[in-house]
Amino acid sequence: MTTRIKLCNTDDVAVGSALKVETADLVLAVFNLGGQFYVTDDACTHGPGSLSEGYIEDDVVECNFHNGQFNIRTGEVVAPPCMVPVKTYPAVVEDGGVYIEV
Ligand code: FES
Repeated sequence: MTTRIKLCNTDDVAVGSALKVETADLVLAVFNLGGQFYVTDDACTHGPGSLSEGYIEDDVVECNFHNGQFNIRTGEVVAPPCMVPVKTYPAVVEDGGVYIEV
């Protein structure tokens, strides 16, 4: 049984930016890459960095703490010092809202 959680409206996240959303037990980053929405954990897997405050280029986010990088679509590490992928959540867009199912 999955629960659908609304994170934000699509209008809340400009193209090429990210929004931090706290919901239930999760702290998430919602990314808008050219109109496609992606959701990851907001916390960098390397330390205290917040990925929603990182630098976004194409489909990569660079943590603003130690410049580690992750692929926003897959969560895979792109550049050290990060070693552990960041968790991703399939985003569902419906009626102008961005949702995840957990
Ligand atoms: S906290 Fe993100 S790279 Fe170190």
